[in-house]
Amino acid sequence: MTSNDFKMGVLASGRGTNLQAIIDAIENGEVDARITLVLSDQPDAPALDRANKHGIESMWLDPKQFSGKMEYDRAVAGKLKEKGVDLVCLAGYMRILGPEFIRTFEGKIINIHPSLLPAFPGLNVQQKAIDYGVKFSGCTVHFVNEEVDAGPIILQAVVPVHESDDAESLAERILVQEHLIYPRAIQLIAENHLRIDNRKVSIKESVPQ
Ligand code: GAR
Repeated sequence: MTSNDFKMGVLASGRGTNLQAIIDAIENGEVDARITLVLSDQPDAPALDRANKHGIESMWLDPKQFSGKMEYDRAVAGKLKEKGVDLVCLAGYMRILGPEFIRTFEGKIINIHPSLLPAFPGLNVQQKAIDYGVKFSGCTVHFVNEEVDAGPIILQAVVPVHESDDAESLAERILVQEHLIYPRAIQLIAENHLRIDNRKVSIKESVPQ
């Protein structure tokens, strides 16, 4: 596939530094793909501005305009389908996707999470890691399935937890690694380099030319 062929939709609720890392990786040639839509559930998400600055189509879809979660998910899925996305990337998207959405894009949704899953799923996980007393935490890129933060793991990066850390300092150190592994995982998918057996993801050997 060439860069114009592999299309991604990015869902983001907040500041969008992971979105920015993906955009930068595309622009500097590390990721051979393009983003055809950035969609947010928050009207003032900085992620939307980041998309605009790079000429990427972006939109806010207001959850309050829909009668329920399923209807909202359906509308989001509709927008992503219109844009022909091959992959849906969650980048700080703070809504849990329903089973219908997940079935619609079966095997084509990935997420970045700021812990070494399966440790510390859910929210405020940097604080949870500190409170538990782990010596290492990190981040995980994984496929999204119907269980929250439990899909097949694509890549992880390990980050030490220092005695002086608070949630903010640990989050900052983890974020640096998020920005490295998320684009890398996307590129592995874009170039069809992943094999999934059961829930075990491995990187295929490249075929000699
Ligand atoms: C990131 O740390 C990401 O791992 C986390 O939200 C932050 C979004 O930052 N995601 C989750 O906690 C999902 N469960 P960003 O908007 O700057 O990319």
